[in-house]
Formats: sequence, structure tokens, C-alpha cells
Amino acid sequence: MSKKLYIETLGCAMNVRDSEHMIAELNEKDDYVLTDDSKEADLILINTCSVREKPVQKLFSELGVFNKIKKEGAKIGVCGCTASHLGRDIIKRAPYVNFVLGARNVSKISEVLHKDKSVEIDINYDESDFAFKDFRSSPYKAYINISIGCDKQCTFCIVPKTRGDEISIPTDLILKECQKAVDSGAKELFLLGQNVNNYGRRFSGEHEKVNFTELLRRISKIEGLKRIRFTSPHPFHMDDEFLEEFAKNPKICKSMHMPLQSGSSKVLKDMKRGYTKEWFLNRVNKLKEMVPDVSLSTDIIVAFPGESDEDFEDTLDVVRQVEFEQIFSFKYSARPLTEAAEYTNTVDEEVGSERLSTLQDLHTEILDKNVAKQLGKVYEVYFEELRPDGYVAGRSDNNYLVKVKGSDELLGTLADVKITDVGRASLIGEIVK
Ligand code: 5AD
Ligand code: SF4
Repeated sequence: MSKKLYIETLGCAMNVRDSEHMIAELNEKDDYVLTDDSKEADLILINTCSVREKPVQKLFSELGVFNKIKKEGAKIGVCGCTASHLGRDIIKRAPYVNFVLGARNVSKISEVLHKDKSVEIDINYDESDFAFKDFRSSPYKAYINISIGCDKQCTFCIVPKTRGDEISIPTDLILKECQKAVDSGAKELFLLGQNVNNYGRRFSGEHEKVNFTELLRRISKIEGLKRIRFTSPHPFHMDDEFLEEFAKNPKICKSMHMPLQSGSSKVLKDMKRGYTKEWFLNRVNKLKEMVPDVSLSTDIIVAFPGESDEDFEDTLDVVRQVEFEQIFSFKYSARPLTEAAEYTNTVDEEVGSERLSTLQDLHTEILDKNVAKQLGKVYEVYFEELRPDGYVAGRSDNNYLVKVKGSDELLGTLADVKITDVGRASLIGEIVK
């Protein structure tokens, strides 16, 4: 009988794809199948994130719970970015953990599984890590890695330390992965990297130099492919050529993640983001001119060391001007191994919490305004999920979650939907074509 695998995936889309890869490896080499009940699992994996401190603290209490409820003889493994960061210390603090596997080492899952107390956290790479296995959590869309690691030096961010230097995956390999995914039924591809629009910066050997814009052009030629999304691009690398391709290529979905982090040019400098408030607004305005229906999402950190009231006002000012559809907002969390962790001009905890709620309140206002404007619009929706309430849900090209009454026949199809009712979390509509 097959063994059972329970896997919890935290953090970003990169982790989602890493989990898919581990699921496929474990299935192929060790005959594991997925379960959503941790109590009956023979192997419990937590694929961790280390961007902020809180989830890292929670990891150990969660591990304790898994250790208590797990089946006799079941193994526990810690993978991902916190595994890379803490390494063997995880086993020191939680001695029942059977192995630790870093974010850059997920291809070794089967090896570490069979070596009790092994720790694999090397951040050097090897080309054999590039070709990921075929397990896909959705039959309708496929995540495709285009680069690994990150070469930026943002002073708040631990990721370059957990995922290592940035390496672009060779273009021919990416195109093969994309073709395979489309051949197996995925109409949407989601390209992944820490800094996707820096693609082509460094390859691991002799490979044709192709930049992100050219990669998008080549992928979009795949027949049967309808949609391309990607995350995360960096505002610094949003040159005109890239924005123009984004605007005119009909297969590229018209939603862009533009991680602002701060609206203050001074804070951006301290964060080493490489752009100013003016550059960010200039890129947004160019994009909006070319694609009026574009929807924008962003990441913002409040209370970065040294952030004054005026700096925070600059952030609110950008948010008011851009009217992002979605904002992922965080209170700054000092992370080990980062430059900003050494800064002594920290912002008071309470001030940070106040700024976070001011920002979130402002966003709720913007959201209500944006959502009201959607009534009566017609969007092409790609249906992916049958809900128990009789609705089928999917995403519009510009990333709104749209629901229509319908059955599983709609799954995997695209249709034009007229929006008839709006809510903060989703829009409701009727198929018109
Ligand atoms: N503190 C708070 N938020 C952070 N992020 C990254 N590092 C930190 C940190 N030290 C946020 C950034 C990033 C997102 C993935 O997490 O906004 O874009
Ligand atoms: Fe978290 Fe960053 Fe690692 Fe993704 S790459 S899991 S966001 S620390």
C-alpha cells in the first residue's frame, strides 16, 4: 500500500512549485500519495518561509503539535527558506525532526528522507535542479520556474541568503517545460522567480542570452496557450521595452505586481531598492496610459528603520495616486543576516501598528471604490474551481476573482462574463459569450 504524505506550504509561489516538485519526487521514488489528514500521514513536511519573524516563531509550536499527533513511526521534515536559514539548529530545538532540506535543495527530498537527521542546505546550484517534475496542483494552470535565487541586496530581505545567487534557467528548458504543460491541458502559465524581469542576467553555462521581454515573446508563441502571468517583477527593471510588450501581447494577463515597499525616496534608498518615488509613479502612469484596465498589486512595508511621519505620508500618497487593486502590507520585521537588522533607528512598535492600520483602512476605501466601478464590465474569465454553493470561479485577465452560477462543464474553459454584482473578495456575473 502507498505511504501517505501530508505537506503544508507557507510563503510564496516559489514554495508552491517547490512543494509540487517534492510531491512528484516522493511519489515516483518512494510511492507516497497525498493526504490532507496529518494524523494518518507517514511523512509530514512543512515547507517554510522566513521573510518575517512571526511565522518562524510559530514553526516550532506547530512542529510540537505535529510531533504529538503524528502516527507511530511517522517522519517529520522541515523544508524551504527557514530550513536554509536555521539548518541544524532546527533539529537541536526540535530533536524529533527527521531532516532539514533548504529551499535550494528540494530535488534531494528522497535522499534526505532515507538519512535520519540529515541537513541539506547548500545554496550552490546544479543544473539538475532546473528540470522540475510533473506534479501539478491544478490541471488548468502551471507554475514554471524561470530563475532561482536573487542578486538584489534589499536591506530588509533574507531571501538572497536562503535561496542564494540568481541563476536564470536556460531558455530552451523553460520553453520545453511550458510546451509540456500546455500539451497536458494548462491554458495558463505562471512564470516564477524572485525577480523575473531580471531574467537573463546570469546563466550557469554557455547559453543564449535572452532577456525577460524576449522570453515572454517566445513563450507566447506556444499554440494552445491562452494566458501568461508572472511574479515577481521588480520596478527597477521595468524598462519601456518590457512595459510595451506587456501592453501589446494579448496573451500576457493585464495584472501587474509592482512591489513598492515604500513611497518615500529616502526610505527606498535605505532599503537599496534602486528606484525613487518618481520613477515608480512614472512607470505606473506609462502602464496605465497603455493599458487602462490594468490592475496593480503591491507589497508595502511600514515602519522600516528611520521611516518618519513624512516618509509614511509619501507611501500613502503613492497608494492614493495608484489606487492598487491589492496591497500586501507588512510591518517591518528585522531579519537576521540582513543589513537593516543592524540599523539602530528603529520605529516604535505602536507607531508601526498604527501606520499599518492607517494604510489598510486607506486601501479598503480604494477597494470599495474600485470594486463599484466593475459593475456592468465584461471580462474574459478562465474557470478553475467548482464551489459547493453552485458557483464556478475563475480569474479575469486582470485578476479579479469572478463567480458565475454553473457546473463543472465550465472548468478549464474561458468565457466572457458581464459583472452583475460586486463584493470586496469577488465579483459575480453572467456569461454573455
Ligand atoms: N519585514 C517585513 N516585510 C518583509 N518583506 C520582506 N522582508 C520583510 C521584512 N524584513 C515583505 C516584502 C516582500 C514580501 C514578500 O515580504 O514586502 O515584497
Ligand atoms: Fe518566503 Fe521569500 Fe522564501 Fe518565498 S522566497 S518562501 S517569500 S522567504
